[in-house]
Amino acid sequence: MKTSSPAAGREAEPVLDIEDLTVTIGTRRGQARAVAGVDWSVRAGQTLALVGESGSGKSMTVLAATGLAPRAARVTGRVRLLGEELTTLSEPRRRRLRGRHVGFVFQDPMTSLNPVLTVGRQVSEACEEHLGMTRRQARDRAVELLDLVGIPSPGRRVAEYPHQFSGGMRQRVVIAMALACEPALLIADEPTTALDVTTQAQIVELVADLRRRLGTAVVWITHDLGVVAGVADTVAVMYGGRIVERGDVDAVFAAPAHPYTRGLLAARPDPERAGGDLPAIQGAPPSPLELPPGCAFWPRCPVRGDARCEHELPPLVEVTRGHEVRTFYPGGEDA
Ligand SMILES: Nc1ncnc2c1ncn2[C@@H]1O[C@H](COP(=O)(O)OP(=O)(O)OP(=O)(O)O)[C@@H](O)[C@H]1O
Ligand SMILES: [Mg+2]
Repeated sequence: MKTSSPAAGREAEPVLDIEDLTVTIGTRRGQARAVAGVDWSVRAGQTLALVGESGSGKSMTVLAATGLAPRAARVTGRVRLLGEELTTLSEPRRRRLRGRHVGFVFQDPMTSLNPVLTVGRQVSEACEEHLGMTRRQARDRAVELLDLVGIPSPGRRVAEYPHQFSGGMRQRVVIAMALACEPALLIADEPTTALDVTTQAQIVELVADLRRRLGTAVVWITHDLGVVAGVADTVAVMYGGRIVERGDVDAVFAAPAHPYTRGLLAARPDPERAGGDLPAIQGAPPSPLELPPGCAFWPRCPVRGDARCEHELPPLVEVTRGHEVRTFYPGGEDA
C-alpha cells in the first residue's frame, strides 16, 4: 500500500496539495460559493497560516479538502494527501487515510471530547484503531502523549474526565488526540481563540515544538495576524472564498501588496501601542450567495481602482519570488 510509508515521500512532495478547490453549497437562498479556485500546499515540518475575516472560506477549504464538507456542498478540484488523490477515493478509504494521517484541533476542545469517556480512553482510541495497538499499549501511549503535550502527572490524569480539566488543558488533550497516530498533517482551526493570552502562547509554542520534533506539516487557521508571525512559515490571505495574497510570512508582513492585507495588518492590536481605536476595515465582506464578478474587495477598497476592478477578476500575480497577490494595484498606487 502506497500510504504505508509516508515518511519516504515527505521531503520530496507536499504533504497536502490543493489545486483549484471550489466549494458550492446549495442553500434555500441559492448557491453559496464558499471557496473559489483555491490552490496551496504544505510540506513536512512547515506551517501554513490561513487568514481572513469570518466567512472568507478558511474552514470550508480544509474541511472540503479532507472530505468533511457538509452534504449539501459540491466540491471540485484536486487534493493530494501524501501523493494520494483524495477527491476520487471511496469514502471509507478516504476516512481511513484521514484518520491515520491527519490530526484536527478545533476552536472549542469540548466539540472534540466526549464528556463521558476518560481522556486516556479518548487519546488511546486512535492508537488501537489505526496503529493496531492492544488496549494496554494504547493506554501507555496515552500517558506518553499527555506528557508530550505538557499535562502534569499524566499517569494520574489519564483516568480523569474532560470536565476535570481547564480549558487550556483540554485543548492540550485534543492536541494529544490529534497527534496520537503521529499524523503527517495537523490542521488547527482557531485552536487558541477560546483561550487566555498566556495559554495561547503556550499552545503556539507546543505546536511549534512538535512540528520541529516530529516533522508534522501544519495548517493553522486564524484571524489573528499576531499569531501568524509566531507560528507560520507561509501565509495565505483569503477574501470572499479566494486567496488574495500569499507568500513567506516575512515577505508578506514586510511589504503587504493587497489593500485587504494592509487593512488586516493595520487592524492588528499592537501590544506596544496602548489604547486608541484600531483602524478597522470599513464595510462588510461579500455574501457567498452573490460574489461580484470583479475584485470582491472593491466595494471596501481604500485604493478603489477603476471599472476594471469592479468587473474583472484580478489574477494572482507574483510581486517578488514566491509572493503573489490578486490585485490590479499592488502596493496601492492611485488609480
Ligand atoms: N453548512 C453550510 N451551509 C451553507 N453555507 C455555509 C455552510 N458552512 C459555511 N457556509 C458558508 O461558507 C462561507 C465560508 O465559511 P467558512 O466557515 O469556511 O468561513 P471561515 O473563514 O472559516 O470563517 P470563521 O472565521 O467565522 O470561522 C461562509 O459564507 C459561510 O456562511
Ligand atoms: Mg472557520
